[in-house]
Amino acid sequence: MCGIVGYVGDKKAQDFLVSGLKRLEYRGYDSAGIATVSEDGEPTLIRAKGKIAELEKKLAKAKRDDHVGIGHTRWATHGEPSEVNAHPHQAGDIYVVHNGIIENYKELKKELGGHEFKSETDSEVLAALIDSFYGGGKYDLADAVVQALKLVKGTYGIAVVSRKNPEELVVARSGSPLVIGVGNDETLIASDASALVGHTKRAIYLNDGEVAKVKKNSIEIRTLDAEPVSAKVEEIETNLSAIQKGGYEHFLLKEIMEQPESLAETLRGRVDAVDGTVRLGGPGLKEAELRKIRHLIIVGCGTAYHAGMLASYYIEQFTPEITVETVIASEYRYRQAYIPENSVALIVSQSGETADTLACLREIKKQGVKTIGIVNAIGSTIAREVDGGTYVHVGPEISVASTKAFTSQVIAMVMFGLTIAQAKGVKNTILQPYVKEIAKLPEEIGKVLEEVKKPMEKIAKKYASYEHAIYLGRDTAYPTAMEGALKLKEISYVDANAYAFGELKHGPLALVDDRFFEVALLPMGVLYDKAVSNVQEVLARGGHMIVVTNARDFDLPVEHVVKIKSELTIFAPILMNLVMQLLAYYVTVAKGLNVDQPRNLAKSVTVE
Ligand code: M6R
Repeated sequence: MCGIVGYVGDKKAQDFLVSGLKRLEYRGYDSAGIATVSEDGEPTLIRAKGKIAELEKKLAKAKRDDHVGIGHTRWATHGEPSEVNAHPHQAGDIYVVHNGIIENYKELKKELGGHEFKSETDSEVLAALIDSFYGGGKYDLADAVVQALKLVKGTYGIAVVSRKNPEELVVARSGSPLVIGVGNDETLIASDASALVGHTKRAIYLNDGEVAKVKKNSIEIRTLDAEPVSAKVEEIETNLSAIQKGGYEHFLLKEIMEQPESLAETLRGRVDAVDGTVRLGGPGLKEAELRKIRHLIIVGCGTAYHAGMLASYYIEQFTPEITVETVIASEYRYRQAYIPENSVALIVSQSGETADTLACLREIKKQGVKTIGIVNAIGSTIAREVDGGTYVHVGPEISVASTKAFTSQVIAMVMFGLTIAQAKGVKNTILQPYVKEIAKLPEEIGKVLEEVKKPMEKIAKKYASYEHAIYLGRDTAYPTAMEGALKLKEISYVDANAYAFGELKHGPLALVDDRFFEVALLPMGVLYDKAVSNVQEVLARGGHMIVVTNARDFDLPVEHVVKIKSELTIFAPILMNLVMQLLAYYVTVAKGLNVDQPRNLAKSVTVE
């Protein structure tokens, strides 16, 4: 949730630290800070509450030429957002930045009687603990870090610098990502490879339980048990344009509009529209293994969970003898759920670092169940720990609200379902319509976005003053409605909730009044007429309705009808979701709120 950067090399550390923090600001944005050390051991610690811009104002008056330093952008867990709770934390001669949570910080704090704590954070306890083993520079810094970490319960990604040794950094991880960028006469540290883009293409992803001593021309990695680790240098695939706004006012709009291309990347080399088949290499399951599958568990949080729900409706339609269960990771990890034989788990995560999803993955693996990742971030923890997987390849998603990842996650999972169905011998006549629509989807998404963008901007202005919204749908449109409501609430702070149309009369109908507006999704299909009746029930109670439909003949007197003009029917809900993404975006713009960095949230939820 927070972001870490570090630098040791020939250039000015401050420059990389600030530019890196700006790239990582989407991960946490309530306070930030950097600590650098000069060649003769003079430290400078500068921290500020608020956005990186606040830190920059302070730095403008305190420019340093130091060649080593660490930085942090915070998303508060222990202690309010404030300068004193911001990282780096200092103890004696050392400075520490930390992502994650030290669960036993209270016990450790009691034992560290001599240290005068200034902040309310668990991270300062970690700094004091490392300092207690460092002996004012008498001992090796990496050894001190290892000794401290052996006493710690919880999760961490850390970077440590000492005024006694301004030529090195020590970094370690357990449960929070850390990447080491290998440069020329410089080594860079980040919690997310996007901070390294433009500086180096070569990266080492640290594994849990590893510690690295990092100098400008050397990287020594070992485990907490002192086993040396030979580093694997991987290539960073992301390029600069992928992490810039590219002429758009907000990352969110850029990412919404990018969906024709991002979905095309998901499909590349995986779909044969001519013979109506799909080919997914990543899961690594043999035909016989696919044939045996009887049960799928789909695990995710937030948007990833909604993507799983929507995919489950599709997979059940064409795959015989299979049950699909979609679960919320934070719940599932503590349930005593029985996983039947011949199950496979799909672990869905854009970032590949979500703490609850990762915990589920580990629990499920313990039960001997095969795990398949549906992940975007290449080299992320989930991607590395699953048995097999399918990258969605949508490129960096910077805006906190997930959009292009959702579309590709749904389709990647449907393709996995199709792979199972193919292996089970389901007739091509049943599967072909799905494959054909999938192949056309990128182009249709482009057309729909073009057509609805302007009208949605106008419609959104009208609803920006409402405080409540109800999203409605049934069948595949129900999980789509859930995703629409999440999008609106997380960025515009409108209290938006989704209901299955059939549930309306069982309670939510009582809510309908002038404080609410309703968004109803009506894809053509067997349940269309029933949904139209439900719309009438809301209208009869004075509802303020926006209907999104691909039915040509819809003619009820609702406030707005957004018609989806596409020949696609099976995946019409994916097209309807574009309308809801734009609605959320434009309502938020009309309210003058921070679109890409909504309050209280962070892009990647690496704490429980
Ligand atoms: O990185 P993940 O896909 O694991 O993240 C899961 C959720 O935190 C994420 O989808 C969240 O709900 C988004 N902010 C929704 O827009």
